[in-house]
Amino acid sequence: MKMEAEQRRAHVVVLPYPSQGHINPLLQFAKRLASKGLKATLATTHYTVKSIHAPNVGVEPISDGFDEKGFAQAGSEAVFLQSFEEHGSRTLSEVIEKYSSTDAPVTCVVYDSFFPWALNVAKQHGIFGAAFFTNSVAISNIFYRLHCGLLKLPLEFHDEALLVPGLPPLNSRDLPSFLQSPGTYPAYLAMKLRQFTNTDKADWIFGNSFEALEYEEAKSISDLWPAKLIGPMVPSTYLDCRIDKDDTYGASLWKPLNIECAHWLETKPPKSVVYVSFGSMISLTAEQMEEIAWGLKESGFPFLWVVRPSELDKLPQGFGEFVQEKVMIATWCNQLEVLAHRATGCFMTHCGWNSTLEGLSAGVPMVGVPRFADQFTNAKYVEEIWGVGVRPKEDEEGVVRREEVVKCLNEVMRGDRSDEIERNGRKWMELAKEAISEGGSSDRCINEFVEHLASHGEERRQVD
Ligand code: UDX
Repeated sequence: MKMEAEQRRAHVVVLPYPSQGHINPLLQFAKRLASKGLKATLATTHYTVKSIHAPNVGVEPISDGFDEKGFAQAGSEAVFLQSFEEHGSRTLSEVIEKYSSTDAPVTCVVYDSFFPWALNVAKQHGIFGAAFFTNSVAISNIFYRLHCGLLKLPLEFHDEALLVPGLPPLNSRDLPSFLQSPGTYPAYLAMKLRQFTNTDKADWIFGNSFEALEYEEAKSISDLWPAKLIGPMVPSTYLDCRIDKDDTYGASLWKPLNIECAHWLETKPPKSVVYVSFGSMISLTAEQMEEIAWGLKESGFPFLWVVRPSELDKLPQGFGEFVQEKVMIATWCNQLEVLAHRATGCFMTHCGWNSTLEGLSAGVPMVGVPRFADQFTNAKYVEEIWGVGVRPKEDEEGVVRREEVVKCLNEVMRGDRSDEIERNGRKWMELAKEAISEGGSSDRCINEFVEHLASHGEERRQVD
């Protein structure tokens, strides 16, 4: 009883970078902590606050200096990140202040690793700070080594491969885009390196991955970057079912067409549908959209394609008429529900880290078409390390052509390798469930954190 009372006293404020792919795993972590008795509050920007609907998790607005449209208003990555640091530090501090005289003062800030400044805010208030990395351990391993000089830019290749301890040999096309072409997003590259500047002072480092998935990647860097792997941060309904009715993340920056998608899927035979989504950020060229569109049509499989409103005008003219009932185009959906549906046979994905973990957790074979950031490395693992999918080849112009789309879809849906891919998918799905279920490797790490915060509550009371 005493333990439960203490746990209720501990209060964690969770601070994500305000994009879909970052809010989802951090909000899921908040829900998981709340399910274990902590009070959890998500601090997010004014323009994303209204999109959060998660029972048992409070929400507090903070400012990035662009309270109407955020990044879109800022105009550049550098301006946005600088402004977020300035306004975010101040307003995060105000949130902590607000609770200081309540019966649930903030005990710990769990901050997105993109915001190392949040640790300074936590320390100024004399509370714990924990960095949360939303990408794979392989990615953190590479960027940590670059940060501390164990790897140097320009990268040195041996027989066309980059050799990094704990990772498989990586070709240039397997590297994060910021390293394939370091000049393209200098502010993001700098930010990816800055993530590690104060992790030695953080009380915890969390990674959204799990031990069985990235054991060597984590072990080879654990002395320098001792992260606790607590993933996959996917709603409980799709994994351990220990959180009641937890079937969505609880954050949607676009309106999902869930009912329409579910009805459409109901009309399709088991494992017949290709689900296609390129996530929340990237924008394909019109040429690439067209190649994928005709490739999907030529494959003959029914497909459900998420095309965000800003991308719709890139679909080939008259495409809808050509394909009709075999196709559903949705501007957004509950991806987890689609992946878990019996009709879904394959996931054509950009390999954002959340989508990759969701595909693995659902055991759905993948066709990985990476375009940006860490997606290239994730796609390499999907195809070659975990054996749960294939990665189409691009031509000299970097475009995946329609024939390649057809070839890859056939390969995972009914080709020689499809049985093996499906078997591997089932294996990783079971391991993902095991990690987060009671007594699993991720569950144990989360429990240690919760218990530590609970005993810290006791210390505070004695001081008071
Ligand atoms: C971005 C980067 O592109 C990615 O490389 C990095 O790993 C995280 O940040 P994003 O494009 O948002 O990622 O992709 P992803 O990480 O896969 O996250 C997208 C999220 O949106 C997933 O959780 C997915 O379930 C959700 N989603 C996507 C929906 O709920 N509905 C949809 O229709 C599409």
